[in-house]
Amino acid sequence: MITLSNVVKTFTSRFGSFTALNGIDLTIQKGEIFGIIGYSGAGKSTLVRMINMLETPTSGEVTVGDTKLNQLSSRELRRARRKIGMVFQHFNLLWSRTVAENVALPMEIAGVPKREHAARVMELLDLVGLSEKADAYPAQLSGGQKQRVGIARALANQPDVLLCDEATSALDPKTTDSILELLKEINRKLGLTIVLITHEMHVIEKICDRVAVMESGRIIEMGDVVEVFSHPKTTTTRELISQVAGSEQPEQEFLEGLNQGAVLRCTFLGEAANQTVISKLVTELGVEVNILQGQIKRLKDIAFGTLYIQVPGDVEVEAKTVAYLKKQGIKVDVLRGAEGGGRS
Ligand SMILES: Nc1ncnc2c1ncn2[C@@H]1O[C@H](COP(=O)(O)OP(=O)(O)OP(=O)(O)O)[C@@H](O)[C@H]1O
Ligand SMILES: [Mg+2]
Repeated sequence: MITLSNVVKTFTSRFGSFTALNGIDLTIQKGEIFGIIGYSGAGKSTLVRMINMLETPTSGEVTVGDTKLNQLSSRELRRARRKIGMVFQHFNLLWSRTVAENVALPMEIAGVPKREHAARVMELLDLVGLSEKADAYPAQLSGGQKQRVGIARALANQPDVLLCDEATSALDPKTTDSILELLKEINRKLGLTIVLITHEMHVIEKICDRVAVMESGRIIEMGDVVEVFSHPKTTTTRELISQVAGSEQPEQEFLEGLNQGAVLRCTFLGEAANQTVISKLVTELGVEVNILQGQIKRLKDIAFGTLYIQVPGDVEVEAKTVAYLKKQGIKVDVLRGAEGGGRS
């Protein structure tokens, strides 16, 4: 559906040149929700702006559907862009127009006959749950409602692709989730391909099928969300995952005051199916376990995250506990040995 082949983007100004995209190869399937994640400056927005030619590549090729975008005349490009909707972080609504007039704008630009606007606008507002706000002005709406208008507007010309650049980054967590649900619903109902850019792993976890992790203008990791979450290959990806798994702990402080038995950090990376592993320690090994803190998240069939446990007892108990956990595919670090002192 969408293909980028060896795309390079170099910005040149009188201050010098900067390569924001450094050889991007990417294929996005029709109908999927594809996430692009990375820290600020990674090149995410530049990449997504290649997909509708808001930026033109310095070299490489961008294809959407059957159309090679970088070979089009400006007239052909305008036509192709109608099939690519875009949603922005700060909504980009026109403040002097009502909700309905904002949603109708792309139709006006595309020359859709005026008599067709009203019905289409109502259909779109119904889809995003804002039928009652047709005559309101953007200033009268909450952030979540503004973004719903942004989404309705992006869908006005029945696009095949919806690009979302940090569409939820200005919203609180609850509103974020409701917008993500809406995007998922739209993806399902309309069979639309969605490309979603974010710096929050939560967004990826919530609705994406596949994900690409970007750093310094390159894709450093790409795959099914479950696969990437369960077997992260790079430090950056692991860091991003820890946002949702809550696995980083101030270990030194944490260990103070825990002066009995062994303290273990158990990292679940997917192979260990679930938390029953811990309860089996008790039933099968007869080992007592105190869960200190940590968080295990589930994503489809996998568990990932970190659990800190304390195992009262001697060195022998520690050894058999560690051996058992490792056999279950859990990564174990001994933060404090049963005889005192840390090792791993
Ligand atoms: N028009 C431009 N001229 C010069 N440099 C640019 C231009 N646009 C982007 N850049 C640079 O390219 C790099 C990537 O920018 P981009 O906006 O794609 O990052 P991003 O991953 O979207 O970051 P953020 O999460 O902050 O939105 C940045 O270092 C930025 O300064
Ligand atoms: Mg950006």
